[in-house]
Amino acid sequence: MSDNILKNQLAEAAQVLASRLEGRSPEIAIILGSGLGPLAEQVEDAVYVPFGEIPHMKCSTATYHVGRFVCGMLAGKCVLVMQGRLHGYEGNSAQEVAFPVWLMHLVGVRTLVTTNAAGAINETYRVGDFCIMSDHINFTGRNPIVGTEPNEIAFRFFSMKDAYDPELRALARSIAEREGIPVQEGVYLGLLGPSFETPAEILAFRAWGADTVAMSVVEEVIAARHVGMRVLGMSLCSNMACGIEGASPSDEEVFEVAQRRQPDFCKLVTEIVREM
Ligand code: HPA
Repeated sequence: MSDNILKNQLAEAAQVLASRLEGRSPEIAIILGSGLGPLAEQVEDAVYVPFGEIPHMKCSTATYHVGRFVCGMLAGKCVLVMQGRLHGYEGNSAQEVAFPVWLMHLVGVRTLVTTNAAGAINETYRVGDFCIMSDHINFTGRNPIVGTEPNEIAFRFFSMKDAYDPELRALARSIAEREGIPVQEGVYLGLLGPSFETPAEILAFRAWGADTVAMSVVEEVIAARHVGMRVLGMSLCSNMACGIEGASPSDEEVFEVAQRRQPDFCKLVTEIVREM
């Protein structure tokens, strides 16, 4: 898609979303991954905007992804939550996956907290641990900036060094430690899915330096850095990755662990938002 078309679509979408926020000015966006949506219920004085009511935006079709924006107050801050996200495996292009991130930037958001459930490749991690992303490997084979024209939305060549903000990572780690919530920090590998990986793929990813793996986040983070947003990425290790300790991941296991770890997830993200 040409950047001009994309830019016009974003402007139209931003006008609609801004009007639906009824005067709220969110500074922080939170994208809630698989099974992690219930945090949105803790947002106070909330307005709800289904993705389908935003022009040019795709709807969420994935299990456990409600597919709406929730805007209101969390821990004293105005937040814009995506209760559910868009994935490449649903048939969305990389730009369609990135669209809501650019959109949230246009309505004033400057910090993105993006979360997901992920498989743990690193054998020292345990199911139920949280993992702060220190960096990523984009193994989706796609990039949302492809096809954008120079300097329309933003300059297309930008550094991905420290894409995951070092200060926000340190803040998240110190809050988790203070609250007694088990937390790791490692390299996340994002791929297209939707089949889970083979054991051979997981061994290859481990040799590349990946600690966790899942089917989201990387397109969002690239889009966020494209427009200069600060990013914090955090996974819940919902399972050991395929073949690690004999694991064979399933959607049911991911959801069951996400449900079980919900209270600590809500506490951790809420406290991070409070201290941002
Ligand atoms: N692989 C890919 N995506 C995932 C996994 C996994 O093991 N767990 C949760 N999402």
